Amino acid sequence: MFLPELQLYKERIEEGLDSYLPGSSCVPQKLHEAMRYSVCGGGKRLRGILTLLACEAAGGWWPNALPAACAIEMIHAYSLIHDDLPCMDDDDLRRGKPTNHRVYGEAIALLAGDALFTQGIKTMVSCIPLGLEREYHQALAELVAASSSQGMIGGQVLDLAAEGKSLDLKELMEIHRRKTGALIRAALRMGGLIGRGDPEVMEALTTFGEALGLAFQITDDLLDLEADPEVLGKNTGSDLKKQKATYPRLVGVGEAHRLAEEEINRACRALAPLAEKGKLLVALAEAVLTRNH
Ligand code: IPE
Ligand code: IPE
Ligand code: MG
Ligand code: MG
Ligand code: MG
Repeated sequence: MFLPELQLYKERIEEGLDSYLPGSSCVPQKLHEAMRYSVCGGGKRLRGILTLLACEAAGGWWPNALPAACAIEMIHAYSLIHDDLPCMDDDDLRRGKPTNHRVYGEAIALLAGDALFTQGIKTMVSCIPLGLEREYHQALAELVAASSSQGMIGGQVLDLAAEGKSLDLKELMEIHRRKTGALIRAALRMGGLIGRGDPEVMEALTTFGEALGLAFQITDDLLDLEADPEVLGKNTGSDLKKQKATYPRLVGVGEAHRLAEEEINRACRALAPLAEKGKLLVALAEAVLTRNH
C-alpha cells in the first residue's frame, strides 16, 4: 500500500489470491471471471497486510498467515461488490474499473459476491499451514463474527437505514465500527492468533484495530469529498448523492480530520507494549491519515 516496506507483503497476497481462487476457465466461467475481476488487479490489500503484520508483531512467521490474509481480502471484495449494487450505493466505478454489476450484470455480481464469501471460508478451512489447526479455527471464528449480521453486514444495514437521516455521533460511530471497523479489527486479531500472541499482545492489536478501523472509515468519508477520482479509483460525491451519514456531514470537514487523527494517535499508543515489533503497524496507521486513495 502506501509504504515501500509493505510492497513484498502486498505481492505475496496478490499471488496467494491468484492461487486460492478457481481459474477463470473453470465452469461456470462467467462466475469465476467475475470473482477474479473484483479480487485481482486492484485494491490496497490493507486488511490482508494487517493480518500478516499482526502475525509478525505477535512473534509468528508471517507466511503462516497468508491464507487468512487472502481469505479476508476475498470477503472484503465480496462486500465491495454488494456495496456497489444499484440496491445499495449504486456506484459505477471501483478500483479504477467499472463496478462488477456494470460488467457482468446484477445477478452474476450478486452471486460472485456470495461465492467470494464461501471461497474465503474455504481458504480458511482447507489451506491451513501444518500444525496451526487450532489457531486457524480461532481465526475463522473472528472472521465470521466480523462479517456477520452483528458485524459488517449489520453495519451495512444500519448505513442504508441512515440515508437522509440525522444521527448523533454515537450512532454514526456505531455504523462505522460495524461496517468497516469489524473486518479491520478481525484482520489484526486473526494475525495475532495465528502468530500465537499472548493476551497482552492480543489486547494491543485489538485496540489498535478498533481505532484504525474507525479512522479508516472517517478518511474514506473525507476522500469521497476531497479526493481526485482518478487516484481514488472510485467516483467522488457518492455519499452526498445518497445523503449518507458520514463524519464530514455530521461534524464538518475540519473536525472529521481532527477525529481521524485522534483515533490514529490512540491506535499507535495501544502498540507501545510491542515496541520495535509494532513499528510497521504504526507506520501504516500514520499513512492512513494522509492517504489519497
Ligand atoms: C473501501 O475499502 C471500503 C471501506 C470499507 C471503506 P478500501 O479503501 O480498503 O478498498 P480497497 O480494498 O483498497 O479497494
Ligand atoms: C463500505 O463503506 C463499507 C463496506 C462494508 C463495503 P462505503 O460505502 O463508504 O465504501 P465505498 O466508499 O463505497 O468504498
Ligand atoms: Mg456503502
Ligand atoms: Mg459504497
Ligand atoms: Mg465511502
